[in-house]
Amino acid sequence: MMRRAKISIIGAGNVGATTAHWCAAAELGDIVLVDIPATEDMPRGKALDLMQSSPVMGFDANILGTTSYHDTQGSDVVVITAGIPRKPGMSRDDLLATNAKIMSSVCEEIKKSSPEAIVIVVSNPLDAMVQRALQVTGFPAERVVGQAGILDTARYRTFLALELGVSIEDVSALLMGGHGDTMVPIPSCTSVGGIPILQLIQPERLEEIVDRTRKGGAEIVSLLKTGSAYYAPSAATAQMVEAIVRDKKRLIPCAAYCDQEYGVGGYYVGVPVVLGSAGVERIVELELTDAEKSAFENSVQAVKELVATMATLV
Ligand code: APR
Repeated sequence: MMRRAKISIIGAGNVGATTAHWCAAAELGDIVLVDIPATEDMPRGKALDLMQSSPVMGFDANILGTTSYHDTQGSDVVVITAGIPRKPGMSRDDLLATNAKIMSSVCEEIKKSSPEAIVIVVSNPLDAMVQRALQVTGFPAERVVGQAGILDTARYRTFLALELGVSIEDVSALLMGGHGDTMVPIPSCTSVGGIPILQLIQPERLEEIVDRTRKGGAEIVSLLKTGSAYYAPSAATAQMVEAIVRDKKRLIPCAAYCDQEYGVGGYYVGVPVVLGSAGVERIVELELTDAEKSAFENSVQAVKELVATMATLV
């Protein structure tokens, strides 16, 4: 008999609750939605509400809301969305001090309650937060991974499909590097229905679309005004949860710990990985052009600086 996966989601705000929604609807497992005691009954309310959608939508999942890590014990996957989101005018890096502290306290708990879990970090600034999660949990690096690449690539694919007037199903793309303004498009790995992207779009126009993608998160923040994006970020996160609990071995871009890989030297950065039941089972090393390589190195440099700043803060 197969046991249902236990998925704990830390932070029952917009991203956390919506991740719970996607995971439940796809029957990925039983879900525990956790928030801080100050939120009182909020996580319980959201969990109950979501569970009451199951008879209508037709999914089987137990969904529990709580403020106690006791309920998360023995989770297979822990998703961390705890933290504050951006407001208009803020960069992801402006969240660093507050979210680093939150990340440390959450990871101390996870380490005790779910020592075998695979941890997916979503809180921003992502590349620094996932590094903090690795440090505090002390888990092997393949069990600590960050969500950024699927979201960035999804934004890019959306813009490309809109530009070309074609189905998003036919747009395949890859972005690498940090989850910030330095993300690196890889045009040689971007195609539409198998056709290389540069046969369909002029390089200057492609650059404009890449630029909109880089600022994709800020565009949503400036429209929402009260917080940051959550539908697409949580859909991307649910795809990672699915890859793990169903051992799908998806080849997708994630923030993975790269040491020798790409010569990064021990930092989290967006790279294509194979994601399965063991977590990051493989980092795929591509041959990059000189321009891609230097853009990637620039992005890694930005991640290193962020991690160095974080070390001075807490
Ligand atoms: N433990 C658990 N939950 C916490 C903690 C903590 N230590 N600290 C804060 N939280 C909770 C908040 O109480 C809140 O309910 O995290 C939740 C965050 O929810 P929102 O404010 O709605 O923010 P959201 O849009 O979900 O973004 C969360 O994900 O995409 C990133 O940049 C985003 O860092 C932000 C995070």
